[in-house]
Amino acid sequence: MKFAVISDTHYLSDSMLCPGAPEDARLKKKINCAVFRSLAKTDAFDTVLITGDLTDAGDEASHREYIELLREVKESGKHVYVLTATHDFQFSRSYAMKKGWPVSYQAHPWNLAWFDKDHFDYRSITAKPEGLSDAECVPPLVKPCTPEQLWELYAEFGRDQAFSEFAPDYSYCVKLEEKIWCLMLNNNFRDVDPMNNMSPSYSPGCLRWIEETVREARAEGAFIFACTHHPLVPPVPAYKLGGGDRNMRRAYVAHMLADLGIPLVFSGHTHFADVGFARSDRGNLLCDITTPGLASLQKKNVRYGYHRDSVLCAELRFFLAMGYSLC
Ligand SMILES: [Fe+2]
Ligand SMILES: [Fe+2]
Repeated sequence: MKFAVISDTHYLSDSMLCPGAPEDARLKKKINCAVFRSLAKTDAFDTVLITGDLTDAGDEASHREYIELLREVKESGKHVYVLTATHDFQFSRSYAMKKGWPVSYQAHPWNLAWFDKDHFDYRSITAKPEGLSDAECVPPLVKPCTPEQLWELYAEFGRDQAFSEFAPDYSYCVKLEEKIWCLMLNNNFRDVDPMNNMSPSYSPGCLRWIEETVREARAEGAFIFACTHHPLVPPVPAYKLGGGDRNMRRAYVAHMLADLGIPLVFSGHTHFADVGFARSDRGNLLCDITTPGLASLQKKNVRYGYHRDSVLCAELRFFLAMGYSLC
């Protein structure tokens, strides 16, 4: 058995683009189509694991087109197991709009009124393409899918094959082989304070389910590992300075999983590759392999095409600017 891990595909349907959107806005779709078609053709592996941010804007049109690509891979005889993440349910906007989006997202954006024309000031868009009127720049405002919808929409890519699931957290476990089990842990939906550094990425109920599943794997003599969207080991120190949801991915969660008996995690989100290790106080080791984003292949898209070295440089500048000394 061989498997491939890909992440952060950020598929964007052409139907989400507004008039005048730059040609490179279509690259996300083109890259995805090319990659998925080659995944369908290859026999280098028999399973594909995708660790979230499947679509760019979470709109249903993108999800439905993306599912067609996944079906092509599945029809070639491969298993496809996916996780959804923040971009899959958070907010919808066209490419041109996204460039200047002035609003920061919140914990449950599908309940917000951003999609209501009466509550959104289009004039606040800062990067509209030249020569277009305000009206021409406004893409159709589309509500993103909800987590519940995604759980149903993607059922055929993991959930239906799972021998165990924890539905409240949209997580499940599949057997890649009789003795190789994979936990697909959705760490995006939890009813906890996102700004609290001590908040776990998974609900207490989910952690209990993980513990039970690991115990079951041990009893069966199976190796068990996990996939999740956000890295558990910060790939660069600045990662800890990020927004609320990032602050949740702290080393203690990695320690917790290591102590539960999970030695290996594949994650995504940062769009660059990294391998990090965490050792718990009890001496248990967890290895976190962060998978680069497919969207990073898009050269012109600097917003999502960053490289680990450029993040490290920016981080260094930040610390110097803050008056930190190098020694
Ligand atoms: Fe992403
Ligand atoms: Fe992400």
